[in-house]
Amino acid sequence: MTNWGNKFKTKNIDPENLIDHYNQYAEEFDEHVKNELCGNGENLPVVVTAKLFAETVPYQELMKILDMGAGTGEQGEQLAKLGYKNVELTAFDPSEGMLNIAKKRNIYSEFIQGYLPVSGLSSDCFDAIICVGTFIPGHAPAESLRELVRITKKGGYIVYSVRKHFYEEGDRRFQVVEEELTQAKKWKMIAKREDEYLPLDKIKGYYFSFQVSTD
Ligand SMILES: C[S@@+](CC[C@H](N)C(=O)[O-])C[C@H]1O[C@@H](n2cnc3c(N)ncnc32)[C@H](O)[C@@H]1O
Repeated sequence: MTNWGNKFKTKNIDPENLIDHYNQYAEEFDEHVKNELCGNGENLPVVVTAKLFAETVPYQELMKILDMGAGTGEQGEQLAKLGYKNVELTAFDPSEGMLNIAKKRNIYSEFIQGYLPVSGLSSDCFDAIICVGTFIPGHAPAESLRELVRITKKGGYIVYSVRKHFYEEGDRRFQVVEEELTQAKKWKMIAKREDEYLPLDKIKGYYFSFQVSTD
């Protein structure tokens, strides 16, 4: 049993402590999410986001996909199950401990230790980005969406999830930044879906797919 869940109910966690925490509990993370937060043996945010990804992002052989905040790499597993094999899949995360678990899956071709909102990655780099559980309280800020647009190729896709209450309450930064990017014609929304997120905590999620503009 971990204190994982309680820790992440706190907003404004000091980033250094957050990464230490992920490093410390990396081995227990998957089990905790699947059984103590979702309760059905699945990482539901990952399953639902990957499904939306498969519905909205056309497969191309050797396409470059970035898993932003990849953690232990559950998204990589799901994407492979949904047919995204023979792709160049990069795992990006600040926690070495989480990335070490992702490495054992033999699905990712590259691992980058880094931190949003300033990724240090080149512009126009990826055909698609998937991002699950990274836009949660105390983690990557909404401004990171601009960074995701910058590093995605023109016409590429960004698919991510945000907890419904976090999206709708407080300063609504995710809504504000999404709208600014839309107004500036940097991207357009392909899909927005409401679905289960962490059912045992009665938390619902919003799941988004955006396409980056071609001009
Ligand atoms: C709740 S876990 C989700 C992991 C994985 N995506 C999943 O859904 O199973 C959040 C992940 O975001 C990473 N993270 C935290 N702050 C971040 C930041 N500013 N930029 C990128 N990743 C961050 C953590 O290291 C952690 O691996």
